[in-house]
Amino acid sequence: ETGCFTYDPGFGATASCKSAITYIDGDAGVLLYRGYPIEQLAEKSSFLEVAYLLMHGELPTKEQFSSFEHEVTHHTMMHEAFRTFLYGFRHDAHPMAMLTGMLGSLASFYHNDLDLEDPEQRRLAAIRLIAKIPTIAAACYRYSIGWPIRYPKNNLEYTTRFLHMMKEVPSEPLELSPMAAKAMDLLFILHADHEQNASTSTVRLVGSTGANPYVSVAAGVAALWGPAHGGANEAVLKMLEEIGRPENVGSAIAKAKDKESGFRLMGFGHRVYKNFDPRAKIIREMTHKVLGELGINDPLLEVAMKLEEAALKDEYFVQRKLYPNVDFYSGIIYKALGIPTEMFTVMFAIARTAGWVSHWLEQQTDPEARIGRPRQIYTGSPVRDYVGFDQR
Ligand code: SDX
Repeated sequence: ETGCFTYDPGFGATASCKSAITYIDGDAGVLLYRGYPIEQLAEKSSFLEVAYLLMHGELPTKEQFSSFEHEVTHHTMMHEAFRTFLYGFRHDAHPMAMLTGMLGSLASFYHNDLDLEDPEQRRLAAIRLIAKIPTIAAACYRYSIGWPIRYPKNNLEYTTRFLHMMKEVPSEPLELSPMAAKAMDLLFILHADHEQNASTSTVRLVGSTGANPYVSVAAGVAALWGPAHGGANEAVLKMLEEIGRPENVGSAIAKAKDKESGFRLMGFGHRVYKNFDPRAKIIREMTHKVLGELGINDPLLEVAMKLEEAALKDEYFVQRKLYPNVDFYSGIIYKALGIPTEMFTVMFAIARTAGWVSHWLEQQTDPEARIGRPRQIYTGSPVRDYVGFDQR
């Protein structure tokens, strides 16, 4: 055992750390948040209630939820001085780049409340991150397209408030369909946590050094941005657009099977799920519902369905247990909701902040937690003596 990682020689990492937050059974396609099946939470809960559950370990009573909601709402604003940070970015920087920078700068704003020995300050930092990340994300997006920043309307609920901040055009009030808000809230629930994925492990590793939660979450955002992880949702839509039509699916499958091509089916495969990602099933059903209710006939949905159908029948994918994952359909819904492609991974980051801060809090109170210190399997040269130039 070395700190945060335990290695079983020959099979790589077998366990990274103890956690009571999320359980995944990759072979059975099971996902539980604090013991509750994702399917039930998706159907009956809300994102903010799931955030409470992940942070506190239990579903809230009515009073607990209303006080939690009040606390989060109280912290949605960002200090006016934030504009100087934001306006320091090139306006055409990717919103994920701006988000990473803005989160890192939160630490400089709250340096007086960073005594991490104080449980109340730890909790306040977690609340601030959940509350402010939608405000910051929406501001980054609006700055990138030259729109004035919109302040949070605190009479709206969490997800609707975010959509309002992001999408309200300067000249007219935003008309949001209840379906759009419900679909977005459901996507937030499904992306809220996922055990020791790359970005959550990053947050825990950074947090294990005693770094504050703002920079730990900023590190998580950086890890999430990669196309093999959270950036896959943006890559899926680009892939579907390149395939273009259902009749081109065969050549995409052939290309994905050709190792030389370096092309992988984005939104397919998973480090843990060797069965259907339960989130993908829920999102696929919701995709049909959202497009149906909004009367949208997106040809990319037919391409996606054909691609899924062909891959699930193809020996290469069946043998390797490659199934659609959470990212395969989410981009089609984001597109239907009018979310621009460059904001897809930002959506993921907003939702995953609930999981990231819950893991950070869990680690801070774990008496056995130590600084993460992964080891390696050394494959370099055996020991040897130094020799001078004339002997080389
Ligand atoms: C997320 O960890 C999490 O929980 C992440 C996440 C979360 O909620 O935090 O679930 C979110 O990151 C989902 C994954 C999003 N990424 C993508 O959709 C990118 C496309 N997928 C792949 O790059 C890949 O499947 C990974 C990165 C997800 C997993 O990579 P691995 O572990 O290297 O894949 P593997 O070991 O399971 O691969 C087994 C075989 C290999 O071929 P062989 O060497 O055995 O011949 O399957 C092949 C791989 O080359 N393979 C694929 C493939 N994914 C794996 N071939 C074609 N298309 C693919 N998508």
